[in-house]
Amino acid sequence: PAGLQPGPEPTVHTQEAYAPEDDFTAKWTRADAKQLKRLSDPDAPSRENSMPASLTMPEVPQDFPDMSNGEVWVWDTWPLTDEDGNQYSVNGQEVIFSLVADRSLGFDERHHYAKIGYFFRPAGIAADERPENGGWTYGGLVFDEGVTGKIFEDQSFSHQTQWSGSARIFKGGQIKLFFTDVAFYRNPDGSNIKPYDPRIALSVGTVHANKNGVKFTGFDKVTDLLKADGTFYQTGEQNEFFNFRDPFTFEDPANPGETYMVFEGNSAMPRESAKCTEEDLGYREGDPYAETVDQVNASGATYQIGNIGLAKAKNKELTEWEFLPPILSANCVTDQTERPQFVFENGKAYLFTISHRGTFASGIDGPEGVYGFVGDGIRSDFQPLNGGSGLALGNPTNLNFAGGQPFAPDYNQHPGHFQAYSHYVMPGGLVQSFIDTIGTHDDFVRGGTLAPTVKIDLDGVNSAVDYSYGDGGLGGWADIPANLDVNSGGKV
Ligand code: FRU
Ligand code: FRU
Ligand code: FRU
Ligand code: FRU
Repeated sequence: PAGLQPGPEPTVHTQEAYAPEDDFTAKWTRADAKQLKRLSDPDAPSRENSMPASLTMPEVPQDFPDMSNGEVWVWDTWPLTDEDGNQYSVNGQEVIFSLVADRSLGFDERHHYAKIGYFFRPAGIAADERPENGGWTYGGLVFDEGVTGKIFEDQSFSHQTQWSGSARIFKGGQIKLFFTDVAFYRNPDGSNIKPYDPRIALSVGTVHANKNGVKFTGFDKVTDLLKADGTFYQTGEQNEFFNFRDPFTFEDPANPGETYMVFEGNSAMPRESAKCTEEDLGYREGDPYAETVDQVNASGATYQIGNIGLAKAKNKELTEWEFLPPILSANCVTDQTERPQFVFENGKAYLFTISHRGTFASGIDGPEGVYGFVGDGIRSDFQPLNGGSGLALGNPTNLNFAGGQPFAPDYNQHPGHFQAYSHYVMPGGLVQSFIDTIGTHDDFVRGGTLAPTVKIDLDGVNSAVDYSYGDGGLGGWADIPANLDVNSGGKV
């Protein structure tokens, strides 16, 4: 290992908890995020990983099996969960929801045509005894045509899509599907007629499962829950490229009986006048590597102001919600803190979020992957895992070279630079994700199916990839195992 490279010291974070309603937002600072580069080996040659193996997803082979047997592109995927993140099978069937798109589209066109589909497979079979592709059956789309478009006052949308969320299972097989309902208003050239309109939404259905398969009833109505407010969460008027999506609901162990939601947002500043502060930079007094606020604000870094939002349910039906201040901001660090989720372990709250290499701010660099933060509660002065870097599991990446794009990897990049994305941390430290692009500039294939599941071990403020899991750290393809069954001792 190359050891820690010269650079600034990370910000001091106490992990101290605040009440969920308090006005305290933890900062993922530039000083923290600069640790990513400090972990990178400056001598790693072309096409080799420069990041520590303990934080790197093992390399995924290019000849991956397709879980949908050629039916659809598959990316962001989530299981049926309870308030504690347990994963359920129903009457012996495991059920997952995925964003899917027609395979006649290019893989990069998927975002504007995304719909929520589902898969099922028999529960309780070890990964190595299943068919290689995970053994899922594609069940089709969750919503009938037209259902999710109805909530928009302005029906003149050019594209109406369903983006990520999470699914909660309740007694009697009731499912509350939280998702992002999105309307785009675009010209044929792709420019905006007006900003897109993402809403955090809920639809309720019922799952029917037996040994022959899984079907749903319901899901014929959508309730609009939250629209970005411009106070805590940036709106389309403030920035047409704003991010507001990916609801994940849970119960806070410190507040039993209450339901909360985390989601992706941006800090509510207008795009052109956004400014970062001394606290956003987070350098320690006298750090010789510190940047000044003026330098950072002049660098273009102010275009990247991601945050992680918190909302609280106002009724038991979970149909009414109120915004609370963000729990984390990444001002001048990264623009996308996608698919946030909580994992509660050993009395600590672990907050995970996925981010892209290409959405880091000017002067910050790090791999595509999942980043983690630990604190004493759901609103805490979160400490980024692993030396303050926050990196929990990144793709094999060489930070000495540019990244390129998933459709055009940089010549010098490791073939795994874009191998997986949208990592979701499951019970037992298992992590699932989807395949984006595998290979080098001159020989790459696009994905559109789930990657092998891997495992990370959490240990206080540190984590490490478990290379003893599966085959050199790679478990089954598309392996999303339930840890409870609805009708055999599960909580619901
Ligand atoms: C989501 C996203 C959004 C962007 C859209 C464009 O994955 O990257 O940030 O608006 O896709 O394709
Ligand atoms: C992550 C993501 C989510 C979003 C979806 C859109 O891969 O960007 O944030 O909901 O994909 O396709
Ligand atoms: C750098 C940049 C980005 C920003 C975009 C704005 O090229 O400043 O940080 O997203 O350009 O157009
Ligand atoms: C600005 C922008 C940012 C985002 C980046 C993604 O042009 O949309 O909001 O971080 O580009 O490439």
